[in-house]
Amino acid sequence: MSTQDWIIETDGIKRGFDTPAGRFWALKGITIRIPAGRFVILKGRSGSGKTTLMNILNSLDDPTEGSVTFRGRFLKDLSQRERENLRRKEMGFVFQSVSLIPSLNAIQNVEFSMRLAGLKINKENHARAEECLKLVGLGNRMTHMSAEMSGGEQQRVAIARAFAHHPGIIFADEPTAELDSAMAAHVTELFKEMTRKEGITVLMTTHDVGLMGAADMTIELSDGNLVEAREHKEAQEPQELSQQ
Ligand SMILES: Nc1ncnc2c1ncn2[C@@H]1O[C@H](COP(=O)(O)OP(=O)(O)OP(=O)(O)O)[C@@H](O)[C@H]1O
Ligand SMILES: [Mg+2]
Repeated sequence: MSTQDWIIETDGIKRGFDTPAGRFWALKGITIRIPAGRFVILKGRSGSGKTTLMNILNSLDDPTEGSVTFRGRFLKDLSQRERENLRRKEMGFVFQSVSLIPSLNAIQNVEFSMRLAGLKINKENHARAEECLKLVGLGNRMTHMSAEMSGGEQQRVAIARAFAHHPGIIFADEPTAELDSAMAAHVTELFKEMTRKEGITVLMTTHDVGLMGAADMTIELSDGNLVEAREHKEAQEPQELSQQ
């Protein structure tokens, strides 16, 4: 692979936290490459360093040692404003708890993140927001407020919101933790579909071993160390998702 096939590359990332008991190393030297356009699962026990690593990769936090490049740019060379722009335009985020803006309906929530990414909500971008909600099976929920949607539906709006502005990567930290197993599998398939249809990279953390078969690559952490980073040639393809 040439360098442009990797959206993120890290070199020896360490992250130390100063605690009353001394310095605690949450990451102890992580060197990984995240392939562009693939569905990557980050796994490991609670406390192994997944969230710490994700926050360094998305530029919210800095490593104590080591470096990260995003699309070839060293994150440490970027100002806070440049990082914020990077997160709004080139990244998307899905969290464990759904975080829709309650005063906006489904399509307005999607359009809000498109605005943050610098897009004007003209006819074309409004159609894009509609397309994204249709892709996640919510063509019939466009004007519903979050209080009028189930947890799984709200999380699907959050996914539509995360990819509507054509980010290079979506960071999803345990996005299925509050969903039942059928909806967790559905959401995982949606992420996989985003990689295939839109060329977006998805980096998702999960504890759920049942979801791991869908990954193109799994990265495993244990006590702040990299256990393995393995690409799977024969990841399960998503089933055709029905438009609801
Ligand atoms: N600000 C901090 N100060 C001190 N220690 C921290 C801090 N943030 C994280 N840690 C420690 O670093 C380790 C890794 O935390 P992290 O949140 O990355 O784990 P995780 O793999 O995401 O776990 P989980 O699956 O429970 O979300 C933990 O032992 C945690 O207590
Ligand atoms: Mg975590």
